[in-house]
Formats: sequence, C-alpha cells, structure tokens
Amino acid sequence: MSARILSGKEAASALLGELTLKVKTLDPKLVVVQVGDNPASESYIKQKMKNSQEIGMRAEHRHLPKESELSVLMALIEELNSDADVSGFIVQLPLPDHLSAHVPQVIRAIDPKKDVDGFTAYNLGKMFLSKEFEHLPPATPAGVIALLEYYDIPIRGQNVTVVGHSNLVGKPLSTMFLNRDATVTTCHIHTKDLASHTKTADILCVAVGKPGLITAKMVKPGAVVVDIGITRTDEGLKGDVDFDAVKEVASAITPVPGGIGPMTVASLMRNCVRAKERQLEL
Ligand code: GUN
Repeated sequence: MSARILSGKEAASALLGELTLKVKTLDPKLVVVQVGDNPASESYIKQKMKNSQEIGMRAEHRHLPKESELSVLMALIEELNSDADVSGFIVQLPLPDHLSAHVPQVIRAIDPKKDVDGFTAYNLGKMFLSKEFEHLPPATPAGVIALLEYYDIPIRGQNVTVVGHSNLVGKPLSTMFLNRDATVTTCHIHTKDLASHTKTADILCVAVGKPGLITAKMVKPGAVVVDIGITRTDEGLKGDVDFDAVKEVASAITPVPGGIGPMTVASLMRNCVRAKERQLEL
C-alpha cells in the first residue's frame, strides 16, 4: 500500500493562517541579511519574504555585496540588535568563502532575543532543558515537529532515528524528540551499519544531503519517514530518501519539495512572532 503523503505545504499554510491574527496585533518585523548571491539562498529568501507578505508581517531584505568585509556585516548586526523596531533577524547561510570561517563569530553577535533562526548558543542551550524552554528553536527541526503534530502522529515512546548530526538540524531535532519522550537514536557519517538503526525506527528523519541514501530495504514497514535533505540535481530538487520505493513500505512520508521546506519557513515566521511577544513582555 502506498504511504500517506505528509504535505508540508498544507501544514505550513495552516500554521501561517494561525499566525496571521497574531501578526495583526503584534506587528513584528523580520529582517533577512544576505551577503553575496548564493543561488540556493536567493530562493530561500524569496520564500521567506513571500511568506511574510502572506501573513501581513513586515519584512526587510538587507543585501550586502559578495565582497563585503566582516566589519561591515558585524556593524549591520549591531544596528539590527539595537533597533527596537526589528523583532527578529537572520543572517542567511552560507556566507561567501572569505567569511565562512567567521560564522561562529557572526552568530555570537546576534542578540538571542532577536535570533529567530535559533542558532545562538543561548537558544540552542535552552532547548536542552525541556520542551517548555524551546522558545526560539531552529526552524527546520521545529518544522519537523510541527508537521508531525499537524498530522497527529504520536511521538511519546516511539523509536525515532535521526540521520545527520549537524548543529542546525540533527542535534536540535534529536533533542526536541527527546523532550517529547521518544527513544532517540542519532546516526551520522561514522555510524556503523546505518540500516540496523534506520530499520528499527517508527519515525525516521533524514538530514544528510545525499540523494537516495535511504532505500526501501532500510525502512521498517509502517514507519513514518521525514525527508529533510534537499539537493539540487540536474533533475530538480532531490531528498535523501528514495521516495518512489520507500512510499510503498512506509505508512507516511514527506515529499521533496513540498515537505519540510515550507514548514521551515513557516517556523521562522512563528519564531519572529514569538520574539516580538517576548520583547513586549520584557
Ligand atoms: N541556509 C539554509 N537554511 C538556512 C536557515 O534556516 N537559516 C539561515 N540563516 N541560513 C540558512
């Protein structure tokens, strides 16, 4: 039997709908900082600006030239930190090559109260405490959880395998599952016998960036499969999961595109609303 398709487009549209009223009352403002012209960034940013517009949220795109020096970017971050009208901002990654070694320094400079990407040590560290402290979680893991919640897929007590242990996706996603009482296995490039871990998963999440990594043989019949990988190929965007084969084994599966991508952007919008809410409380 073919798996249920978990549409991120549909779930994101519901999440954005819920945010619209809050945006009207709170009037938050998002700023997206871009340095250079990475083609993937261009398309992500377009989506972020479009979603902002759809929910009536003020959004500004601050685009610095590719050759900008670190001091210029740091000055802009300082300006955004101290501008009370800016509720949240992100620095779109990757940065151009000459700045890429400075990413930790750039992220450290962002005021955690405005860190709507949830990338700062403060916001990541808070997640470690419990679900209640996930105030500004990174958008992609938050999008995965929101998608499962939208489709009423239970998490407590489930065996969850997360493939990928990046700071932006795999590690925080594993933490969010643990916060919801799942039994979590985190796999990565050095994992021995990956299939032995994927095959026991009730919920399998994959965030590696290797098209076709997960084959039907690696999936437990009836599992929920969440494909977070996105790779641009000559045949278009590809996830990490062999979708056509795995959908015949899984009970539910996310497509690429149209799965986690839209959820990520919607979660960023939600973080910006939450940031403004908290700023008004302070
Ligand atoms: N590059 C790819 N995804 C992201 C994201 O979620 N945030 C930022 N800042 N850069 C990205």
